[in-house]
Amino acid sequence: MPKILISGASGFIGSHLVKHFASQGWEVTAFIRTLPENVSPPPGVTFKQLELPHFIQPEDFEGAHYFVHCACEKYRPSKKNSSAINVEGTRTLLKIARQKKIQKFVFLSSMSAHPQARSRYGQHKLLLESEFDPSRDVIIRPGLVLGKGGLFASISEMIQKSPFIPLINGGSQLLQTISIHDLCQSIENSLVRPDIVGFLNVAHPQPITLKKMIEKIAKNHQLRTHFLSFPFWFFYLILKIANAIRLPLSLSEENLLGLQYSQIFEVENDLKKIGLSAQSLEEYLARESTV
Ligand SMILES: NC(=O)c1ccc[n+]([C@@H]2O[C@H](COP(=O)([O-])OP(=O)(O)OC[C@H]3O[C@@H](n4cnc5c(N)ncnc54)[C@H](OP(=O)(O)O)[C@@H]3O)[C@@H](O)[C@H]2O)c1
Repeated sequence: MPKILISGASGFIGSHLVKHFASQGWEVTAFIRTLPENVSPPPGVTFKQLELPHFIQPEDFEGAHYFVHCACEKYRPSKKNSSAINVEGTRTLLKIARQKKIQKFVFLSSMSAHPQARSRYGQHKLLLESEFDPSRDVIIRPGLVLGKGGLFASISEMIQKSPFIPLINGGSQLLQTISIHDLCQSIENSLVRPDIVGFLNVAHPQPITLKKMIEKIAKNHQLRTHFLSFPFWFFYLILKIANAIRLPLSLSEENLLGLQYSQIFEVENDLKKIGLSAQSLEEYLARESTV
């Protein structure tokens, strides 16, 4: 069975990938920043400590076939050097992976990574993409990931907490989405198929506006919502102040910049290449309400 190394394994996507590959009998090394105390790993999984940029132990890479890099130090006022941490840490991972003859390295980028990006997150991801070799590595750009984590979960929680939903400029921002199950499958397909390398944009082909997405989530929870529209600058100012005084909010100015300057990526060719028929938001919500 293949041996796979996953960084950021305590996070939303990383923890799903660990379960996905372990359930298929793969040997999984889950790299975690702070090892849990008194928690044994599930069968087939080994926990190892890894902290970007410096705490990376080359011997942990021994005998592995694949590396999936999900760890990402996000920018926040208390982590202004997040870009340097990610760049330096990613370079070290890649260097060790090459030395240890890892067959394929998958980097989790984002659809926020594009030249017009205004968020530091999008700009950092774009910078990180340039560290990879598209003729041998896989650089995956998922849309907003549908699942119980990340920005999608923050939006869902906001809808469940209050019927009054603030929208930026009426919520007309277009989003592309991918379910967590489809993302795990895309990553598996890209690993096992030697011909799949380079950039992969993975999302359902039909983008959806932020307002429509909120309406569908609310409907799924049988909740009523009232929208309050504010101009972008007003939202930005509020979140900037909240972040500066470290108010714990589920959305950050980074999320806002990502939403406002989002770009639509062509996905059909990549879905065809990896052999995936991506779920829509409706299909994802229907599946979740039955499990
Ligand atoms: N969720 C989405 O909608 C989405 C969409 C597109 C792309 N992505 C990308 O997919 C990747 C995973 O996203 P996610 O939603 O799973 O994020 P997440 O839940 O925030 O997980 C991030 C992971 O990175 C780890 N990490 C952060 N800084 C680290 C450091 N210095 N050293 C080692 N580990 C570190 C975290 O560990 P701790 O638990 O110790 O903090 C956590 O395990 C990210 O690269 C993200 O940019 C996500």
